[in-house]
Amino acid sequence: METWTIQKLLNWMTDYFTTNEIDEPRLSAEMILSYALDLKRIELYMHFNRAVDKPTLDKLHQLIKRAAASEPIAYLVGRKEFYSLEIKVNSDCLIPRPETELLVERAIEFLRKRPAPRYACDLCTGSGCIATAVAKGVDDIKIIATDICDAALSVAAENVAHHNLTGNIHLLCGDLFDPVIEGLDQTRFDLIISNPPYISTAEMAGLGKNVKDYEPHKALHAGEEGLDIYKRIIEQANDHLKDDGALMLEIGYKQAAGVTELLENTNAFKKITVEKDPHGNDRIVTAIK
Ligand SMILES: C[S@@+](CC[C@H](N)C(=O)[O-])C[C@H]1O[C@@H](n2cnc3c(N)ncnc32)[C@H](O)[C@@H]1O
Repeated sequence: METWTIQKLLNWMTDYFTTNEIDEPRLSAEMILSYALDLKRIELYMHFNRAVDKPTLDKLHQLIKRAAASEPIAYLVGRKEFYSLEIKVNSDCLIPRPETELLVERAIEFLRKRPAPRYACDLCTGSGCIATAVAKGVDDIKIIATDICDAALSVAAENVAHHNLTGNIHLLCGDLFDPVIEGLDQTRFDLIISNPPYISTAEMAGLGKNVKDYEPHKALHAGEEGLDIYKRIIEQANDHLKDDGALMLEIGYKQAAGVTELLENTNAFKKITVEKDPHGNDRIVTAIK
């Protein structure tokens, strides 16, 4: 029987994923192989000539097939790197995106300038990636993180525990600010941050198979123009912000005008800025109360 070494498998999988138009074929091959072999990616290269046993080859066979059918690699391996942290994921939550790291960066910069103790609220937390990364980057911080999906919050709870942040992040299930209870929880925050669902009805139809068929639609779709959740967050934000506090939102590349208008209409914010991501697309709106 043919011997499959790590090197040979890596090369074969890279070619196979390239042919099947899987994003980042080499990286995807490394991630699947390191997961199946329970090695770090770098360790694949340290054991290049190691022969891979039959049970592992059988396991890989299934994973390769699923990857070729466009199932996201992050779901196959159960994790995604975000802001240099390992974030656990499953199909109940959105896979953290690199674009969202800029939101985390701005949130950390803003919160570090606020007097301690700092209070933040992460709405639509999903895997808890934003709350986790922000809490790792700021001292003396308490974050309330809410999501309407209980199953997503279970994933967030694993991430919070894994990164030793149970004392910093309080996870609550419910609609936006609804689960926050006056008198029991902090209700006014230095920062409200959110990467909410923001895909319009028309855009939903054009999503790639890897997103449309695998990621939760509740995490993506937000009405005809994709603005439904922003409208509701913005209506309530003023009541939950301290003076000079900030609302920071990730937005879709066509939504800067719509979101800015919603913010202006409240007359609650003295400064509104839009920032582009490294691809030149509008990505973050910050409104200071
Ligand atoms: C785009 S995902 C973002 C997840 C995570 N913050 C991230 O950046 O990867 C949006 C999340 O919002 C949650 N969600 C949708 N509607 C909601 C609502 N009305 N209240 C709270 N969470 C909601 C979904 O369950 C999903 O986890």
